Amino acid sequence: MDGQREWWKEGVVYQIYPQSFKDSDGDGVGDIPGIVEKLDYLDYLGVDAVWLNPVYDSPLADNGYDVRDYRAILDEYGTMADWETLRDGLHDRDIRLIMDLVVNHTSDEHEWFRKSRRLEDPYTDYYVWRDGDSDEPPNNWESLFDGPAWTYDDEREAWYLHLFDPKQPDLDWTNPAVREDVYEMMRWWLDRDVDGFRMDVINLLAKRDGLPDGTDDAAPVTGWEHFVSAPPIHEYIQEMHEEVLSRYDVMTVGEALDVSIEDARRFIVEDGLDMVFTFDHMYLDEAGSRFTVAEWELADLKEVTAKWQTGLSEGWNSLYLGNHDQPRMVSRFGDDAEYRRESTKLLATYLFTLKGTPFVYQGDELGMTNARFETIDDYRDVATIRAVELALETGHIDQFDAVRNAVNYWTRDNARTPMQWSDDPNAGFTVGEPWIKVNEDYPDVNVERQRGDPDSVLEYYRQLVALRHEQPVLKYGNYVPILEEHAEVMAYLRRHDEQANRALAVLNFFDGRPVVELPSGVEYDDADLVCTNYDVADPDPRELDLRPYEARVYLLD
Ligand code: GLC
Repeated sequence: MDGQREWWKEGVVYQIYPQSFKDSDGDGVGDIPGIVEKLDYLDYLGVDAVWLNPVYDSPLADNGYDVRDYRAILDEYGTMADWETLRDGLHDRDIRLIMDLVVNHTSDEHEWFRKSRRLEDPYTDYYVWRDGDSDEPPNNWESLFDGPAWTYDDEREAWYLHLFDPKQPDLDWTNPAVREDVYEMMRWWLDRDVDGFRMDVINLLAKRDGLPDGTDDAAPVTGWEHFVSAPPIHEYIQEMHEEVLSRYDVMTVGEALDVSIEDARRFIVEDGLDMVFTFDHMYLDEAGSRFTVAEWELADLKEVTAKWQTGLSEGWNSLYLGNHDQPRMVSRFGDDAEYRRESTKLLATYLFTLKGTPFVYQGDELGMTNARFETIDDYRDVATIRAVELALETGHIDQFDAVRNAVNYWTRDNARTPMQWSDDPNAGFTVGEPWIKVNEDYPDVNVERQRGDPDSVLEYYRQLVALRHEQPVLKYGNYVPILEEHAEVMAYLRRHDEQANRALAVLNFFDGRPVVELPSGVEYDDADLVCTNYDVADPDPRELDLRPYEARVYLLD
């Protein structure tokens, strides 16, 4: 067994992107009362916790990851009383509420920044400011949203650092007053019965002393090696743990870009986080820019799966295949046309049968797919728009049309199209004009249509959630890969060290029909097929003649 048993090791987390979940008042933007309307849906899914993307007051330059006031709810989303209704409604259904903690940066409209740029104490040093000539930034770091990571502020006549958009100035974590203010804000929410935090870009908080120029040519952006897991990041997280987290019974998951196993282990075992979100599997189809896409390879997916499943033995993995920043999982790792249903179920089976805590992104439980955006005006994501505009400006691309497919593939807007509730206009998301276009496949892919249909993706997810709850071996069993060299099929056992029972997952990741022979030495006699995405006439796992994207999960005694 892995350390202590914890609810979050045994449960499933469902991620809600509030702007796109359900609009209750017809303004075209999802809101908290909209989520409240759907509480019974969450209960029916059977999930144990909801991770709510930011709902704080914000000018929405980066859809809420630019917080203007940490202690207020954005008007368009509702009021604090609405938030309390949501929290209580979740708790009444035994669903925990995980809030998003965005403390690498604030909005430039946050009071701290407004005062800081006017040199008003005590906020003068709340952000990473550097003096200097207005035409020469303090170093060569680049923003993760393209372009330089520095903007010259005419009011203060100094440069400020922003690892993301210019409207997201980075807080200066070397300043103890900043850290204390952040901790106080965290306590404020925890005292309001929040059950944990998903921590935005948590391994970017520390910037290397002296802010040296970046030199690593292979880095995704210049400066990376000086702000990704840079010292003294572990000290900051330990302090946060001591000052805040250790005093409450909460779940934490930190978004950790480009994290190594050793750093992940430190964040968890030494610094006190419960999990981190890792990215190795999100880089498999990367080809170095937003304007290119590489084919991902099953061998690589197997490698990164085994790396984390066996490498983080002292910690605990988070499991995810999509979120609000990523393409839709079925469009990326499955077939979103002919085998949309089968391949979504296959991917879900992978997600739910690994060791760790599965995170389900809203709409993935329906098999929602990437949308198609025809013009730049269709995009809403600041990262997409900024990248395309800068690339056009600098001549990196001549015209949008030439890169449309790649941009369409990567844009974060794919994950942000409205949740598809029914075949009513706008997928039942709003009676108004939606803030972002609705995916055209909604008449076919929606909750109303799938609920109660035993063959639907949605009912399959419910089955997986239940299976996970019922089977201790799926929670705590160790991961043992088999068929490691197979080009189309991924397979593994889950096994408790001290108990005899095991689980076996066999996953055909492609549209071929491989015949698979399982290794000898494992007892398959009493194999019980507990989950599959096809009708199976002969459940004997020793004779596997797999169909496109077929997934099978067995329990072995
Ligand atoms: C994280 C969020 C993303 C946001 C960025 C800056 O990666 O998931 O949506 O744009 O941080 O806050």
